[in-house]
Amino acid sequence: MARKKKSITDLLITGIADKGKAVGRTESGEVIFVENAVPGDIVDVLVYRKKKSMSQAAVTAYKKYSEDRIKAACTHFGVCGGCKWQHLDYQAQLKHKFQTVKDSIKRIAKLDDSIVLPIIGCDDNFHYRNKLEYSFSSKRWITEQEASTDHVIEQNGALGFHKAGYFEKIVEINQCLLQDDLTNKIRNFVRDFTIKHDYRYYDFRTHEGIMRNMIVRNTADGQWMVIVSFSKKDKTKIIAMMDALKNEFPQIASLNYVVNTKLNDTIFDLDIVNYCGNPYIIESLGPLKYKIGQKSFFQTNTGQATKLFDIAARFADFSPDDNVYDLYTGLGSIALYISNLVQHVTGIEEIPEAIADANINKEFNKITNATFYAGDVRDILNDDFVKKHGKADVVITDPPRAGMHEDVIDTLLQLEVPKIVYISCNPASQARDLALLSKKYDVLAIQPVDMFPHTHHIESVAKLSLKTDI
Ligand SMILES: C[S@@+](CC[C@H](N)C(=O)[O-])C[C@H]1O[C@@H](n2cnc3c(N)ncnc32)[C@H](O)[C@@H]1O
Repeated sequence: MARKKKSITDLLITGIADKGKAVGRTESGEVIFVENAVPGDIVDVLVYRKKKSMSQAAVTAYKKYSEDRIKAACTHFGVCGGCKWQHLDYQAQLKHKFQTVKDSIKRIAKLDDSIVLPIIGCDDNFHYRNKLEYSFSSKRWITEQEASTDHVIEQNGALGFHKAGYFEKIVEINQCLLQDDLTNKIRNFVRDFTIKHDYRYYDFRTHEGIMRNMIVRNTADGQWMVIVSFSKKDKTKIIAMMDALKNEFPQIASLNYVVNTKLNDTIFDLDIVNYCGNPYIIESLGPLKYKIGQKSFFQTNTGQATKLFDIAARFADFSPDDNVYDLYTGLGSIALYISNLVQHVTGIEEIPEAIADANINKEFNKITNATFYAGDVRDILNDDFVKKHGKADVVITDPPRAGMHEDVIDTLLQLEVPKIVYISCNPASQARDLALLSKKYDVLAIQPVDMFPHTHHIESVAKLSLKTDI
């Protein structure tokens, strides 16, 4: 017999936990994760999954709305799923992100949370992304509102974002507020063009339909890159669309297409054809210029990236004769950014294409004191590496969400580097690593920086210095 689901009434939502879920606690101390609620809401919920340490629940009634709730600016909010926190006032978002970092420092790193500095927010919490990836699908996501009307729903295709959890369903997007508005004009133009000229959208099951994906990138000074992905080499159709885009949008400095006949969407292993303009756009970060190629990785929020790198440089407090290691360097953006402040910087990154970009940008900026290695930090950062490159005065580390491997932490403990700057996009894994590093390093300050408004993501920079009494 199925167990009866437990309902809880008048649950006060008090905070936001990992992955951005709202969280409340019952009178008996049980922790409940709740979807579609924000801190300050009082809700009735139905528990649909129960585990030892916590339960998951869905709202059945809102008894009182939080004062921090606002009307989401985006018309696709709640359907698209991209900006889960748009209905939470931005200052409240910052407050909860700040608290998340503080909680991790206190509970996981077991450090005094007063080292966490006031969070730095985004000046414009919309239009902050420099890249969006749209998908075409023959299957449009039908909203609940549409489904509840008597109108006949035409099961037509869509151009927009994937519906979370449904790989073939696309939410039709008319306006996304995360990138400059030209992104909407380009996407909507392509949609109108494809409908008018009968370009069929990709069917994820039958693999028919010529239109697959479209990447739209821009720089702060208004250079645009568009890459359209087609499923077959129909030259007439491809050229007609490229010409239409070229004529309509002179802002597109780099217009490209790719023919992807594979089953997966990735274009990293394919030749991208530069139809007109350059195969790159150029972004400025401080004094540097970065060539962003068709396959390049780049920080998605350019404005906040500059702030982040400036904080890293301030925490490192470089001397001109410093030898620096930049671990998990990506396309070397931090290494290159700080290169004029130090003697030498050596970056390590496992993706060879990112290292190729790092070297291109090194040349482009005429930088002569940076060296890049492709490979796993765990393998590359060893005694031979230190012998070859000299002991580091400062290590900058910016690992992926999982944090650093324990072996890398052991190496950093052995190396006894005078200063470490640890940038992270995951407060929990950063706190875990800081706890291990604090055997030999004092954690002096943590600076949270909001790179992704309306999401639960938060970046934080930690300043570490070698203990004097070891
Ligand atoms: C958070 S990003 C750092 C980005 C970089 N600092 C930047 O600003 O462009 C983490 C990077 O670590 C790389 N990475 C992940 N695991 C790695 C490993 N074991 N060894 C080397 N690099 C790794 C990823 O490919 C990614 O580029």
